[in-house]
Amino acid sequence: MKVSIGSDHGGYELKLEVIEHLKARGFEVIDVGTDSPASCDYPIYAKKVAADITSKNADLGILICGTGIGMSMAANKIEGIRAALCHDTFSAQATREHNDANILCMGARVVGPGLALMIIDTFLDTPFSNDERHIRRISMYS
Ligand code: RB5
Repeated sequence: MKVSIGSDHGGYELKLEVIEHLKARGFEVIDVGTDSPASCDYPIYAKKVAADITSKNADLGILICGTGIGMSMAANKIEGIRAALCHDTFSAQATREHNDANILCMGARVVGPGLALMIIDTFLDTPFSNDERHIRRISMYS
């Protein structure tokens, strides 16, 4: 599985830990930036990860900023993106099963790295249910 990941300065340090974890787990990782802890604008990276998903260059995406909120708002403006802001493993599992979420958003100022990695593992390891009622509801998003 190929994962596209991006962050702003608020998520930069956590992103580095996440990339190391994903590579150790055998995932192919596309890092779209940011490449330093210098202040930057998170929508740039939300759009880059979203483009990797809509172009099918990646299977799933991860976006990290300070809260995860700006990233999720920016990503969800893009057609075909279903970005879920999750700070617990139940939500990460449910959003893959019910919403077929294709981007996970998290706030590095909200969760520590231990919980963040558990949330990410849950998100990446949970398949969409393919349940008819969930397919119908997702089709009603746009
Ligand atoms: C940057 O200070 C912060 O606003 C950003 O990381 C994010 O939390 C926005 O939603």
